[in-house]
Amino acid sequence: MKALILSGGKGTRLRPLTYTTAKQLIPVANKPILEFVMEQVRGADIVDIGVVISPETGQQVKDAIGGGERWGARVTYIMQDASSGLAHAVKTARSFLVDSPFLMFLGDNLIQGGVSRMVKDFINSSADSFIQLKQVGNPGQFGVAVLDEKNRVVKLIEKPKEPPSNLALVGIYLFNSAVHGAIDRIRPSWRGELEITDAIQEMIDSGCRVDASILEGWWLDTGKKDDILEANRVVLDEYARPEINGAVDQLSSVTGRVEIGRGSRIKNSIIRGPAVIGENVVINNSFIGPYTALGKESKLENVSIEHSVVLNNCFLKDVERIEDSLIGNNTRVSKKKDRHKAVRLFLGDDSEVFV
Ligand code: TTP
Repeated sequence: MKALILSGGKGTRLRPLTYTTAKQLIPVANKPILEFVMEQVRGADIVDIGVVISPETGQQVKDAIGGGERWGARVTYIMQDASSGLAHAVKTARSFLVDSPFLMFLGDNLIQGGVSRMVKDFINSSADSFIQLKQVGNPGQFGVAVLDEKNRVVKLIEKPKEPPSNLALVGIYLFNSAVHGAIDRIRPSWRGELEITDAIQEMIDSGCRVDASILEGWWLDTGKKDDILEANRVVLDEYARPEINGAVDQLSSVTGRVEIGRGSRIKNSIIRGPAVIGENVVINNSFIGPYTALGKESKLENVSIEHSVVLNNCFLKDVERIEDSLIGNNTRVSKKKDRHKAVRLFLGDDSEVFV
């Protein structure tokens, strides 16, 4: 069994951040999503991992994951020259996959509990493909599946106007080599992409068996800003631990599950978990509220912030209330006049804002 992690794509819905950062490397709870994905793939005992990358962000992904040694994995990079769809990514990876069965994992998705169970079930079944589904309130925005009474997939429709079910396709799939023939037979969709839903439908139409299961736990698809904040909330809720490696002065209070990295200094501030603060962060006269992740090397002074993700090396000063914000690397936010209003921010790297 091999794995194929899709870490190319355009990331248009996360601009401006994705002008400079691969979206799979945006951190939730201070850890890039792609690292969680690597952990989940290794958790299913898969060692041979292909990572699909794009010309724009491929080098960043390589720098972050390397040869996979940190996870005891063997990583092969596969350059996809253009983001021409998920099935196109599989086609590009053909020489890596050969005829092996494989787990395909979108590099910006995560599910609760990992994928080891799903992989085991697939290995022990005679299905040609296995997909995960999740009941959602807005199925029209996803690939949607119709199942028969044995939980076999009979139909898949990409972003239907009138959804036949509320079962959305989660970005984690299993295939045997029958998928390659199906991909060779499909044509690009109206948006010019080779769609994985069309490939799976083609498998069904040519007599393959596609099984499905419905996911009970959470599914995070971090394609947009609010998805990143939600992922940060869910992951902090589940994984944040109390661990203070920095210095907290006597005028400060730290409550709940808060992680503070080495070299960080907290002065005259309140920090309420779950929250995570990276290394060498200086916090002065500030309030850090629940569901906040601060990257390393940042400085906050007279700031109140909650439910936000701040990347590395930022400088925030004199801002009364920051909430629901995603702030890129090397960003400076400071106050211009004496106004007291909540601000909501989505800032790319190297921004400068006066509020
Ligand atoms: P998407 O989020 O569907 O596509 P995208 O990255 O182009 O984003 P946007 O719609 O905001 O422009 O992609 C899901 C995952 O698959 C993501 O990790 C990127 C990856 N991907 C590829 O590796 N190759 C591709 O051709 C496409 C479309 C996506």
